[in-house]
Amino acid sequence: MRKKIVAGNWKMNLDYNEGLSLFSEVVNMVKDEATGTQEVVVCSPFIHLHSLVQLAKGSAKVSIGAQNAHQAESGAYTGEVSARQIKSVGATYVILGHSERRQYFGESNELLAKKTDTALANDLKPIFCIGETLQEREANQHFDIIKSQLTEGVFHLDATQFARLVLAYEPIWAIGTGVTASSDQAQEIHAFIRKEIATKYDQSVADATTILYGGSCIPKNASELFACADIDGGLIGGASLKSRDFTDIVKAFN
Ligand code: PGA
Repeated sequence: MRKKIVAGNWKMNLDYNEGLSLFSEVVNMVKDEATGTQEVVVCSPFIHLHSLVQLAKGSAKVSIGAQNAHQAESGAYTGEVSARQIKSVGATYVILGHSERRQYFGESNELLAKKTDTALANDLKPIFCIGETLQEREANQHFDIIKSQLTEGVFHLDATQFARLVLAYEPIWAIGTGVTASSDQAQEIHAFIRKEIATKYDQSVADATTILYGGSCIPKNASELFACADIDGGLIGGASLKSRDFTDIVKAFN
């Protein structure tokens, strides 16, 4: 069955040394404490990736990911980082389509479809983010928005390629706001996403897809969210910057 994953998204936080010490604490805590979480992914800024991969050696459960990758294989794109470069330091995941990338860097579903192709071609596993704004939810458009993000962003993949994705539902109104989606609201969307996958591919693909919840997930609400039938873990922003909080979320699966 599908994997239970807790992923941390450090965003543009922590200098090099701060990142290394936080990560060392997380690795030690995760090693010592029992949890049903099957994989812990830390998505750091590019500058940390290589060192985190080295520090994670020997902890089978911990993987490393980037937070973005360019859609081109290589070339004259000053300041960008390619999927191949990320893969070459030993990272295995990449977050694509985070709402902050969509909002501040104008990333469209069409661009994200290309980024997904390039990431997969370079053997990275995308954590593909989707989610609606508060306005869209209040206008009752959230199902349509989610559906078009899936259709335009990832449903061009064949079933074998699609099976390599992790999806993350992150309602934008819940990100960094302290307002979490209720477990009923999150479960409703996760079930909808799974139904859309079943319609596009088939039920076995849908049942095997890990769908994470993200948006103000903290130790206090993680167990209730993770207990929902279609929620397979979390994508954690703010709380991933504190080793104790992040590990407590990792432990929320029992
Ligand atoms: P948050 O961020 O946990 O700080 O709300 C989640 C995310 O942006 O992935």
